[in-house]
Amino acid sequence: MSVEQQSPTVREVLRSLDVFAGPLPRFSPQETPDSPQELFIEWLTEAVAAGVREPHAMTLSTAGQDGMPSARVLLLKDVGPAGWSFAAHAASPKGRDLAAAPAAALTFYWPQQARQVRLRGAVATGSPELSAQDFLARPLGSRAEALAGMQSRPLDDPRSVSAATEEALARLGREPDLVVPEWTLYTLDPHGVEFWQGDKQRKHTRLAYLRSAEGWDKQLLWP
Ligand SMILES: Cc1cc2nc3c(=O)[nH]c(=O)nc-3n(C[C@H](O)[C@H](O)[C@H](O)COP(=O)(O)O)c2cc1C
Repeated sequence: MSVEQQSPTVREVLRSLDVFAGPLPRFSPQETPDSPQELFIEWLTEAVAAGVREPHAMTLSTAGQDGMPSARVLLLKDVGPAGWSFAAHAASPKGRDLAAAPAAALTFYWPQQARQVRLRGAVATGSPELSAQDFLARPLGSRAEALAGMQSRPLDDPRSVSAATEEALARLGREPDLVVPEWTLYTLDPHGVEFWQGDKQRKHTRLAYLRSAEGWDKQLLWP
């Protein structure tokens, strides 16, 4: 059966879906802190309190050497004056993108609040010590996966994953302090951060923080 013959059609299902259902928080751009880090942490804290699943999941967008964008979801590791941190294997496609073009965009979406945060900026590579600290704090299974070092390569036989994982787990059992040298903590230092608060009546509020010589300028944007 073709997609067109289904009843209801995919298009009908998509059009019937509710957007921004349920109560939404209030957002007053006039009452916001001076730095985007502070406002981000306020919004993240509210998302955690509201029980948003994986509130620390974000889309990392990078540019490939061929100019093509790629995006994937990663977990946020920290937020501070230096920026927003995440960790990845340097030999993965995203690691290779960042080595060639060390700039990226991050996007967060918290559905319960109808809130989006967008960041763009340069990406710095953390010191081997910081990257090692992050690696050693990962659960055993995640360390084993990184040790196998095959992320995003073609997989001809799914049994290879179990075999490589078992081998990596055995090695980590013998060498519990082992650190994968390619494991890298990256930090995106934004030159702009945009906070978007959705509204049922489509009177969305957008507030951009733009880097200035003194710190941050704030600017409202048309929705
Ligand atoms: C909720 C969620 C969290 C994820 N967290 C990470 C992460 O922290 N690090 C990571 O390398 N991949 C993570 N992934 C997998 C990535 O989205 C991606 O599939 C993988 O890193 C390969 O990306 P690449 O081929 O662009 O390098 C996560 C996926 C999801 C859905």
